[in-house]
Amino acid sequence: MTKPARQPTESVVQVVDLTHQGHGLAEFNNKPLHIRNALPGESVNARILKKRGGKLFADAVAILGSHHPHRVESSCSAYPRCGGCSMHHIDYHQQLKLKQHQVAGFLEQQNVSPLQWNAPVSATRLGYRRKARLGVRQLGEQVLVGFRESFSNRVARLSACVVLTPELSALIPVLKQLLGKLSIAASVPQIEFAQGDHSVALMLRHLVPLSDQDLHLVGDFQRRHGVQVLLQEGGYDTLVTLDGSPIELLSYQIPASGVYMQFDPRQFTQVNQPLNLLLIQAVLSHLSISSHKRIADMFCGLGNFSLPLARAGAKVWGFEIDESAVARGIKNAQLNHVAERIHLSVADLYNEANLALPKLDALLLDPPRSGAGPHLLSWTQQSGCDEVVYVSCNPETFAEDAALLTTQGFALAQVGVFDMFPHTSHIETLGYFTRN
Ligand SMILES: C[S@@+](CC[C@H](N)C(=O)[O-])C[C@H]1O[C@@H](n2cnc3c(N)ncnc32)[C@H](O)[C@@H]1O
Repeated sequence: MTKPARQPTESVVQVVDLTHQGHGLAEFNNKPLHIRNALPGESVNARILKKRGGKLFADAVAILGSHHPHRVESSCSAYPRCGGCSMHHIDYHQQLKLKQHQVAGFLEQQNVSPLQWNAPVSATRLGYRRKARLGVRQLGEQVLVGFRESFSNRVARLSACVVLTPELSALIPVLKQLLGKLSIAASVPQIEFAQGDHSVALMLRHLVPLSDQDLHLVGDFQRRHGVQVLLQEGGYDTLVTLDGSPIELLSYQIPASGVYMQFDPRQFTQVNQPLNLLLIQAVLSHLSISSHKRIADMFCGLGNFSLPLARAGAKVWGFEIDESAVARGIKNAQLNHVAERIHLSVADLYNEANLALPKLDALLLDPPRSGAGPHLLSWTQQSGCDEVVYVSCNPETFAEDAALLTTQGFALAQVGVFDMFPHTSHIETLGYFTRN
C-alpha cells in the first residue's frame, strides 16, 4: 500500500515584523516563521515549506482581512516563488525607506550618528540588471532557466524577468528552447550573463563536452541572437569562444566624464548601469576634485571610479586583488589618455599589512560584503587623509567600519542609500566621512 502524501502544514498567523531579506516574520510553535510575500500587521494563512536551523519558512497562501497600506501588486508572474527578488509586493518608495531604515539601524548599533542623511537615490526600477547567474534544470522534455526559488534550491519557472534588462530577459525563452535540443542539457547547471552598452556575453557552464551537433546548435543560436556564447567546462579560466578566437570585450561609457571602459565578461562590473553613473557622479561631487587632489581607490576593480576621478584632475592610486581587472584598468587608463594620473596595483587588501600608500587627501573604499578589512585604520593613518568616501554593499560591515573611522576623528558627514538592486533586499550605501 502506498503511503498517503503528507499534507503541508497550514496555519493562520499574525505577521509582526519584516526581516532584512524582505520576508514577513511571525511565530509558529514557538519558532520564528519567515513568510514570503507577507507584511507586518497582516494576518496570513501560511503554508510551511521547510525548517532549517530552528527557523520555519512559509508561503503566504492567503491574506486574511486588511492588507498592509504599502502592499502593491507585483509586476512579475513568477513572484514570490522566484528568489531573484523579495520586495516586489512593497511600494517602491517604501522599499527605499526600509533600506534607509536598515542602514540607520546598523549605524545606531555601532553608536555612529550621521550628520546628514541624503535622500535615497534610484534610477531604473525595472529592466536594470546587466549581470546574472541563472540556474538550469532539465525536467523531462522541459528545461527551466531562472533564478533559484526563495527558500529552496529549485530553479524558478521563468519565461521572462522584469528586473533583467529587456535584452537579457528576452534570451530566457530562446535559451530554454536551445537547451531543450542539446544532448547535454542535463549537464548544464548554470548560465551567466554579462552585458555592456552594446553587446551581451553568455557563459554556458557544462559538466560534459558538447557533441558536434550541440556545437552546431549553439553556433546557430549565437549568430541568430547576436550574443557571444562562451563555453565553460570548469572555472572561469576555462572559458572559450566557440571557434577558439579571443573573448570579445564588452564596454560601457561614463558620459559625464567622457570615459569609455572595456571589460572582460568575467570581470566585476556594477549591475545597474544608470545607477552606477549616478554613484560615480556622487563620488566625484563629494570629493570636489581639484587638480592636485591625491586619492587612493581601494578595491578599484577595473577603475570604474579611478578613471572618472583622474579625468576630473585627481591623481589616483588604485588597489585590487584581481590581476586581470588591474591589467584591464591600466589599458582603459591608456585608452582614455589618463594613464599619467593613475597608478593601479594588484594587492590583497585583507592580507597585505605593509601596503605602501603615499600621502593622500582622500580614500575611496568599495569593498566586497566583508567590508574594508583589518587594515582600514592603518590606511587612514599612514596616508594622513581627511576624507573617506565609502561605497558599501553591506550595511552591517559599513557600520562597523564607520565606527572604526570615528575612533580616528572622522565623522560621518553624509550618508544615503543608492538603490542598485530595486525589488531585492540588497542595500548599497554611500557614506562620506571627514576629519577635522
Ligand atoms: C564591489 S567591487 C568594486 C569594484 C569597483 N570599485 C567597481 O566599481 O567596479 C569589489 C572589488 O573588490 C575586489 N576584492 C575582493 N577581495 C579583495 C581583496 N582581498 N583585496 C583587494 N581587492 C579585493 C573584487 O575583485 C572587486 O573588484
